[in-house]
Amino acid sequence: MKTILIYESTHHGNTKKLVDAVAKRYGIRTATVEEAAAMDLSAYDRIGIASGVAFGKFYEATERFMDNSLPKGKDVFFLYTCGNDSGKYANSVSAKARARDCRVLGVYGCRGFDTFGPFKLIGGIAKGHPTQNEIDGAVEFYGSLAE
Ligand SMILES: Cc1cc2nc3c(=O)[nH]c(=O)nc-3n(C[C@H](O)[C@H](O)[C@H](O)COP(=O)(O)O)c2cc1C
Repeated sequence: MKTILIYESTHHGNTKKLVDAVAKRYGIRTATVEEAAAMDLSAYDRIGIASGVAFGKFYEATERFMDNSLPKGKDVFFLYTCGNDSGKYANSVSAKARARDCRVLGVYGCRGFDTFGPFKLIGGIAKGHPTQNEIDGAVEFYGSLAE
């Protein structure tokens, strides 16, 4: 099972913490979403997509990757971090994956330090997140995915 984990983690590197932990534990290749958009991904069986959340969806370049660059027929999974989880943040990317005949294996999300807009004035929200427990949760999530 050849896997690549593609990420966009521009706000505080919160999502990258999940990505690095999963990649280290399982020896998975990683790429930024910009790098991945220029790569031939056909040899990968499984594609992980990891992003922070902005305005209720994955970041813009990641949403665009899902529209334009995700190869058809792959197994995909999602990781994200967000200031305040709605439980719906992966809905858009999941629908885009299915539209490209990909199988969604699962979604893991947790909170991540957020200083966007007005939250900056109060020193941010979700300080200290992702916690080590939440990072370990991402590693467990990956380990639990069906082959
Ligand atoms: C422009 C912007 C918009 C955001 N919108 C949301 C949002 O709609 N919902 C939410 O829960 N968090 C939102 N956040 C918080 C980020 O998703 C959160 O801090 C995340 O952990 C950042 O991940 P990163 O450090 O990997 O980029 C927003 C952050 C930014 C910068």
